[in-house]
Amino acid sequence: MPSTPFGSPTPLSPSPGQKVVSKTLSATPLTVDLAGRSVSTWGYDGSVPGPLVRATAGDLLRLTLVNQLPADTTIHWHGIRLRNAADGVPGLTQDPVRPGGTFGYEFTAPDPGTYFFHPHVGVQLDRGLYAPMIIDEVADPGGYDTEWILLLDDWIDGTGTTPDDVLTKLIADGGTATGGMGGMDHGSMGGMSMGAAPWGDAGDVTYPLFLVNGKPPGDPDVLSAKRGDRVRLRVINAASDTIFTVALGGHSMTITHTDGHAVQPTQVSAFYIGMGERYDAIVTLADGVFPLVAKPFGKASGGQGLALVRTGSGTAPGPNANPSELSGQILIGSQLQPASSSLLPVKTPDATVDLALQGSMKPYQWGINGAPFGKNEPLTVAAGQRLRINATNMTMMTHPLHLHGHTFALPSGLRKDTVLMAPMQSLAIDLDADNVGDWMIHCHNIYHAEAGMMIALNYRR
Ligand code: C2O
Ligand code: CU
Repeated sequence: MPSTPFGSPTPLSPSPGQKVVSKTLSATPLTVDLAGRSVSTWGYDGSVPGPLVRATAGDLLRLTLVNQLPADTTIHWHGIRLRNAADGVPGLTQDPVRPGGTFGYEFTAPDPGTYFFHPHVGVQLDRGLYAPMIIDEVADPGGYDTEWILLLDDWIDGTGTTPDDVLTKLIADGGTATGGMGGMDHGSMGGMSMGAAPWGDAGDVTYPLFLVNGKPPGDPDVLSAKRGDRVRLRVINAASDTIFTVALGGHSMTITHTDGHAVQPTQVSAFYIGMGERYDAIVTLADGVFPLVAKPFGKASGGQGLALVRTGSGTAPGPNANPSELSGQILIGSQLQPASSSLLPVKTPDATVDLALQGSMKPYQWGINGAPFGKNEPLTVAAGQRLRINATNMTMMTHPLHLHGHTFALPSGLRKDTVLMAPMQSLAIDLDADNVGDWMIHCHNIYHAEAGMMIALNYRR
């Protein structure tokens, strides 16, 4: 195997008047305190989550990764429609960054929105290696007084195990594969049954803790503002294996964006958020102290993520706060309607491909189109085409399907880069092939992805 088939990407110079945003991000081992429990993990710049990267749409970003981990790594800028060489996928867009190595990610961030970044190596996302990325609008219409970023996570690293051990155990507990990927022709039941829940069997891993902004419910992040303030929430699910229901006790929320794209403002009391998805919402704050809860969907272990919103005096709700908003109607994000500014131009697809999500818990095998990544045939598209992907979930689990370097449109026109696909659901998603390169499409359950639930989408040359 050649040691550096990709080399360094071509440097970019700013175009006249283009602002440059530069930052160095060091990936290092570190220790974090989770409500008195000290855990060893890996993170960016010594904290979990890592530091915010913020720029304005159209800026040139120059982000340097310094790898001080005892393992190869990369950074993927999740949701950004960036140039292929900066996408962070080892073996597809770059060489892995070796321990002690550095890599310069240079790209223009064309679209405003709420994003995040994380490694694209193994199950490293399930450590503390994640951080928010906000691309501001050139002329933000505003309409809010404050903004809060909320990063949701499921946490197991350093609690007597590591994500790599978790994956090894999932594979071992799944038993020995006998028939290769033969079992992937049929959906098969996962381990647990969730009854009539919309997402079926929703997770593989039992997590001891759920974090909001790096903090467990025993020591929650406290977000303070004034009563009557309008706050823009930017909610990011950085978890590896957990779909959350999000609610703010005593409040309704008006969803304004998902995955960076504007939607028709929709008032909800709670919403689901899958791994890799983002939702922006506006809330008008009441007087008091309120729980912002991220309740894991379908996890036997219990527990939840919690932050506190404080505008006045009052007793803080405890770690198990259970706002009534969680038991009402819960929004399924793919049912939002797009804002007219977010629509793809009307066009008949030039090409159609099928994408079947397949696999099972026992054996622990996941793949797309009949085989795990590396053995499956890449999808292809020609530059300039409107591509329709007929995606089908042939399993009894829910999978967040994520596409790199583009956003797709659901049949309603709603633009997303990550969409939850319920068991046995079919969905036609359309994209404009306007960003030449080799891109990943995968399940954003990081254990499924690493077990093979990924496929490449290559532009024909
Ligand atoms: Cu956040 Cu390839 O993913
Ligand atoms: Cu999956």
